[in-house]
Amino acid sequence: MTTRSCLSVVLAAGEGTRMKSAKPKVLHEVAGLSMLGHVLTAIAGAGGTAAAVVVGPGRDDVAAEVRRLVPDAGVHVQVERLGTAHAVLQAADALKRGYDDVIVAFGDTPLVRATTFGRLREAIAAGAAVAVLGFEAADPTGYGRLVVADGKLAAIVEHKDASEEQKRITLCNGGLMALSGAQALRLLEGVGNANAKGEFYLTDVVALARQAGLPTAVVTAPEDEVRGVNDRVQLAEVEAIAQGRLRAEAMRAGVTMVAPETVFLSHDTVLGQDVVLEPHVVFGPGVRIAGDVTIRAYSHLAGCEVAAGATIGPFARIRPKSRIGEKVHIGNFVEVNRSTLGRQVEANHLAYLGDSTVGEGTNVGAGTITCNFDGADKNPTVIGRDVFVGSNSTLIAPLTIGDEVLIAAGSTITQDVEAGGLAFGRPRQAVIPERGAEKIRANKVRRAERKARGG
Ligand code: UD1
Ligand code: CA
Repeated sequence: MTTRSCLSVVLAAGEGTRMKSAKPKVLHEVAGLSMLGHVLTAIAGAGGTAAAVVVGPGRDDVAAEVRRLVPDAGVHVQVERLGTAHAVLQAADALKRGYDDVIVAFGDTPLVRATTFGRLREAIAAGAAVAVLGFEAADPTGYGRLVVADGKLAAIVEHKDASEEQKRITLCNGGLMALSGAQALRLLEGVGNANAKGEFYLTDVVALARQAGLPTAVVTAPEDEVRGVNDRVQLAEVEAIAQGRLRAEAMRAGVTMVAPETVFLSHDTVLGQDVVLEPHVVFGPGVRIAGDVTIRAYSHLAGCEVAAGATIGPFARIRPKSRIGEKVHIGNFVEVNRSTLGRQVEANHLAYLGDSTVGEGTNVGAGTITCNFDGADKNPTVIGRDVFVGSNSTLIAPLTIGDEVLIAAGSTITQDVEAGGLAFGRPRQAVIPERGAEKIRANKVRRAERKARGG
């Protein structure tokens, strides 16, 4: 990668009214990460060495997301929205520090690839003062048109300012561009607002560069990449594209998906080789799955690690801060929460394991519940290796169960059990001879009498 320095200015001062949301538009998520996060990640992937984010007034929540993702990024407030060039100039202090390349990106355009930002930078490195990201629009209405003369980009004309002839141009401005750091400030400061919207258009830097005899360039990308989000319908469209990319990437890396269109991944989902995902599996953020793991239908995982050879589901839920060991079997209607399961643990049916540590080879019977919450605090349950927890056991935490303990089915366990013990936690069974048959026969007679009365 290039050793050139690069400042990225991300515009995120839009009001996003059409989202109809209390949350700022750029904080809405795509594949489990804010749109702004996607943009900042792609920029970093293109070697962006510094970032400046332009936000609207009072947007502490956007500033907080910037700090979370890129702690040393600058946050600049645009008090009045006077246009995209005006927005970039809010980061003038950062521009003055002097960079080789300047990227301008929009916080609501989350699908641009790092390689595309990289190509814009290459055009600047090759001598262009301005490099614009163009695309062939299926419907160019509303977009700025790229006016090319003699094979060179002469100007960008906004839809509202375009002549009838210019409106027929289908090569449009995706909105993003790169500028030569040496020229950026001078070009931006030369932008005026004598246009249909009365705004300071970033796009005017193209014509200004040409007037100054500086070269301009166009880099093109597929329309999907420059898709912007204005409302929740577009948010869903962008999500679908992002999911399509993530699924394709995973499958190309050796993951089998029986019905890929039903699997939902997060931006950071890590899937090992020969992982098999059955239909309707959903991943929240922060999941790492090793090789040879099968996740069966209708399972939900978030914030967890699963080691090689494990089988999860169908209908399982693995919640954050959980670590599932090698060759573990987790079956239907099992929930694991903040728990660590050792190698070859089996919890095959209907169980809840919360705040627990389960040793290697232990079998957790159907209906086992760790009572980890006493109404105020979360308490731990520690279960040793090769333990057999009988079905329908209630383990009341805090609790420690030693290695090779056998817990009788139906037990309520409230006290620690030493290694090797057999623990019963239920009243002894009582049997009254013949009494059962008497009751059953008497009931039969009463039912027949009721029927005869027409009841
Ligand atoms: C812009 C481009 C247009 C391009 C289109 C692609 C300009 C003048 N026009 O138009 O050529 O085809 O994107 O989608 O750049 N913003 C601020 N502060 C402002 C104004 C805008 O932060 O004062 C931000 C917005 O939040 C948004 C982005 O800049 O994220 C683009 O602004 P918007 O008004 O949506 O520009 P378009 O009219 O779509
Ligand atoms: Ca827009």
